[in-house]
Amino acid sequence: MKRVYLLAHPAGHSLSPQVQNAAFAQLEMDVCYEALDVPPAKLEAAVERLRDEEVLGANVTVPHKLRVMPLLDELTAAAETIGAVNTVINDEGWLLGHNTDAPGFFRALTEAAHFDPVGKRAVLLGAGGAARAVAYALLSAGVADLSIYNRTFEKAQTLAGALSELGAVRALRAGELEALERAELLINATSVGMEHEGQDPDCSPLPPGLLPRRALVCDIVYRPARSRLLRDAAAAGLAVQNGLPMLVYQGVESFRAWTGREASAKVMLEAARGALSRG
Ligand code: ATR
Repeated sequence: MKRVYLLAHPAGHSLSPQVQNAAFAQLEMDVCYEALDVPPAKLEAAVERLRDEEVLGANVTVPHKLRVMPLLDELTAAAETIGAVNTVINDEGWLLGHNTDAPGFFRALTEAAHFDPVGKRAVLLGAGGAARAVAYALLSAGVADLSIYNRTFEKAQTLAGALSELGAVRALRAGELEALERAELLINATSVGMEHEGQDPDCSPLPPGLLPRRALVCDIVYRPARSRLLRDAAAAGLAVQNGLPMLVYQGVESFRAWTGREASAKVMLEAARGALSRG
């Protein structure tokens, strides 16, 4: 039996084991995906285990997406530019770091929401790891311009600077947020609205009453299925998409990177929904 691991801390909340194991079962592959709780001090040892012959690779998530990078042998160009790794491929002991959040977001946008980002005005909320991948995906896809708003302005400015060669991108200050009324695409890539300890799931990342006039509104949050932002947007008649399609498509992309085979997005989505409904 081959193995794929998830390196996380804590590891209990992830849907990836259910999602990936459903796809391995459907394709009758003898592979087991297992979440490992890896505290930061044990990350290096966990990464060394990925070189074993029986290991196809791993997913890497909070809080390891950045600190795993120097432990790997090589990075893809996307992982290097995004500055984060969520997928590791074990090629006969040689560890390649990749990022499938960006293609995962792009496929969720185009294949699940049927939105063509080319030439569109986009606003992104957040400047953390997830936001970096979304910004990279949108600029690579050819949006007309991308405005990034973040609670900590300097982080939005740093992100805009890092990606400026890919297209028209700038950081928005709080006083300029009204600009998002003209956006055709709005994405929340902050953790605001997420249902987990210490967070109020009834919060929106936007001030009350501020929404685009006509746009698709996406949230990386999928727990709850409709965040406060998506409820407000839907009530205002805007099209909405939650974070599940992105989770599924990044999973499809990682699956292909490990196995060379195509997982069914439908099977993965059903597995994710089933796991969410079980709580
Ligand atoms: P991830 O890798 O999941 O993106 P992260 O790198 O910790 O996680 O980024 C979290 C994002 O959510 C950041 O943009 C963060 O804003 P700051 O850069 O100002 O920290 C944003 N965020 C988290 N909690 C927030 C809150 N209560 N209000 C506004 N933004 C918040």
